[in-house]
Amino acid sequence: MTTKEEWIEKDLKYVWHPDTQHKQYEGKNYKPALIEKGEGIYVYDIDGNKYIDAVSSWWVNTLGHNVKRLNNALLNQAEKIEHILLADFTHKPAVELAERLVKLAGNPFSKVFYSDDGSTAVEVALKMAYQYWYQKGKPEKKYFVSMTESYHGDTLGSVSVGGIDIYKKIFNPLVFETLKVKAPFCYRCPLNCKQGQCNIECINEVEELFKQKNNEIAAMIVEPLVQGAAGMRMYPAEYLKKLRTLCDKYDILLIDDEVAMAFGRTGKYFAFEHAQIKPDIFCVAKGITAGYIPLAATITTDKIYNAFYDDFSTLKTFYHGHSFTGNPLACAVAVENLKIMEEEKIIEKLQPKIEYLKKSLKIFESLEHAGDIRQTGMIGAVEMVKDKKTKEPYAFEERMGHRVFLEAMKRGAILRPIGNVIYFMPPLIITEAQIDELLKIAYDSIKTVTEKF
Ligand SMILES: Cc1ncc(COP(=O)(O)O)c(C=O)c1O
Repeated sequence: MTTKEEWIEKDLKYVWHPDTQHKQYEGKNYKPALIEKGEGIYVYDIDGNKYIDAVSSWWVNTLGHNVKRLNNALLNQAEKIEHILLADFTHKPAVELAERLVKLAGNPFSKVFYSDDGSTAVEVALKMAYQYWYQKGKPEKKYFVSMTESYHGDTLGSVSVGGIDIYKKIFNPLVFETLKVKAPFCYRCPLNCKQGQCNIECINEVEELFKQKNNEIAAMIVEPLVQGAAGMRMYPAEYLKKLRTLCDKYDILLIDDEVAMAFGRTGKYFAFEHAQIKPDIFCVAKGITAGYIPLAATITTDKIYNAFYDDFSTLKTFYHGHSFTGNPLACAVAVENLKIMEEEKIIEKLQPKIEYLKKSLKIFESLEHAGDIRQTGMIGAVEMVKDKKTKEPYAFEERMGHRVFLEAMKRGAILRPIGNVIYFMPPLIITEAQIDELLKIAYDSIKTVTEKF
């Protein structure tokens, strides 16, 4: 029988892990954890140790692990048809899912374009927006505006609209040129305004840019309410509302990248609902299948779709497709996920839990190095700083977040950090008692690490 140590040895021999510097495992006790099963909010390693999946396995899991109804949906579909191409063919789960998504998103959404993951959903949105303008006789509208510190995926198109150096800097010679505006991050406000006491003055920079360059701008792409990969940086819904108005005023499309936020994370199905706006195009992935299986969708309106609808010879077709576009297994799981969300009133049940999380996060205020404690819906984050008064961050090389992660693993929670930010994005089915359990582990881990340092 292969032992745990042998599995891990083989892992490090053959598997190249994402976002991972493998040298960190050299001569250390710390190695990738070998996970064998999951149940609810917990995952279990091969030795039976239990961990709260506090980051929902990279923000994908919404209904917990090992959900019988989702397992059955997957198995039932596998016994019918596991895959069929989606050009000139279709299948019931793809149709049912598209109908459900359009109805959930409401007017004016009407069309769903499937792909495989968040990055591809963003690629589709960018190409769709550019081709829309091209076919409207405005090929000069070729720029995309995005925020500093934004993250939209790791493929080169999505990296182009991204703004985080570690993902982008090396590839600058390869990516296409985009326009950037400063992200409206309230804790470190670019205009030094006090949180909750401003008139969203940071939007003025966007208007200036739109005024100067609207003839050349195809779309602005945003992560709604929370810039996840930047460290759960949060901003008010009012910003999105104002952005929608500006996009209308200057004839610029609004692309809403809901890859991380949709399906309940913010307390609603889609984050744009908080701002009472509708984007022109929005992207979903991750939680669409409750985190079971890769699937993504780029959802848009007839206004966009009609610019592609014409005789074959006009070459207005959207020539974009992936082998696994609209995979039946994934669509069947996604349909079941949406049925569960509806029947079990997952969104409604979240509201008291969100209040509970908000209240419970206050425990971190007593920690000397918890600089900012922020929350949006079911997402909480603690930004650790060297000095609370000056907001001086810990240096990158100090790996404070990583130290807390290791400490929390010993205590039974997966708190994989982003730099100095420890965040909570648990499956939505977490209970109040489990929130207590998670926050206690986080509190003790942060305290231990920051006191020692
Ligand atoms: C806002 C946003 N967009 C796109 C992506 C990319 O998604 P994927 O990793 O599924 O390609 C992510 C991933 O975290 C994301 O947070």
